[in-house]
Amino acid sequence: MSKHEDAAVPLLSARGLTKAYGRTPALRGAGLDLRAGEILAVTGPSGSGKSTLLHCLAGIVRPDEGTVSYAGERLAEQPERRLGELRRTDFGVVFQFGQLIPELTVRDNVALPLLLGGLGRAQAGARAAEWLERFGVRGQEELRPGELSGGQAQRVALARALVTGPRVVFADEPTGALDSLASEQVMTALARAARESGAAVLLVTHDAQTAAYADREVRMADGTVAPLEVTA
Ligand SMILES: Nc1ncnc2c1ncn2[C@@H]1O[C@H](COP(=O)(O)OP(=O)(O)OP(=O)(O)O)[C@@H](O)[C@H]1O
Ligand SMILES: [Mg+2]
Repeated sequence: MSKHEDAAVPLLSARGLTKAYGRTPALRGAGLDLRAGEILAVTGPSGSGKSTLLHCLAGIVRPDEGTVSYAGERLAEQPERRLGELRRTDFGVVFQFGQLIPELTVRDNVALPLLLGGLGRAQAGARAAEWLERFGVRGQEELRPGELSGGQAQRVALARALVTGPRVVFADEPTGALDSLASEQVMTALARAARESGAAVLLVTHDAQTAAYADREVRMADGTVAPLEVTA
């Protein structure tokens, strides 16, 4: 077992992250640890920096200061090309806004990360269909995202995030636009898929019902994460 498969060593860890947009500080020394296979909820008020933190952890935004380490690799030291590769192979991301490509069918939206990774069309389509089935949206492969309900669109976005078999899923408000029944279906599907595949999930949410699916919760306020607490 390598050091990074050891449960005691976090898979992903951030320390002292700062990020400002112009004169607006979004992160002011944020840090956290995500262990392999765990579901960690990041909660906190609007504007507290949750999405910015998620984007830094996923290698989408480079922080001004601080470090993000993934399996021993420091993201700040990696070129753009390597970050892009990590996002395609090891990370799956569900964005807070505008996640599906409207011109593509549901199937092609989910197959896209596989096609970008070089898998053939038939195989990518078949694997996309499997994941759509797991998330309870089989039979809608030929539709465009605009023809789906909010809950169906979220489940398609989750299928796309999980289709490559990532080790970390970043989900930014995956139930943000949903009523409580649809939220429950989305979260049940996400938690089950993560458990089955062993993926860790960083779950950003302001909703207590959604956060309840996590193993652990940390709270953000004003660009920092409250001291790492141990909850059952
Ligand atoms: N691209 C950007 N350009 C300018 N300011 C930004 C940008 N992204 C975030 N901010 C600012 O950074 C701060 C943190 O924003 P962030 O989106 O991380 O908060 P959040 O906790 O995700 O909020 P919400 O719960 O509303 O999604 C806010 O003051 C926001 O206005
Ligand atoms: Mg946000």
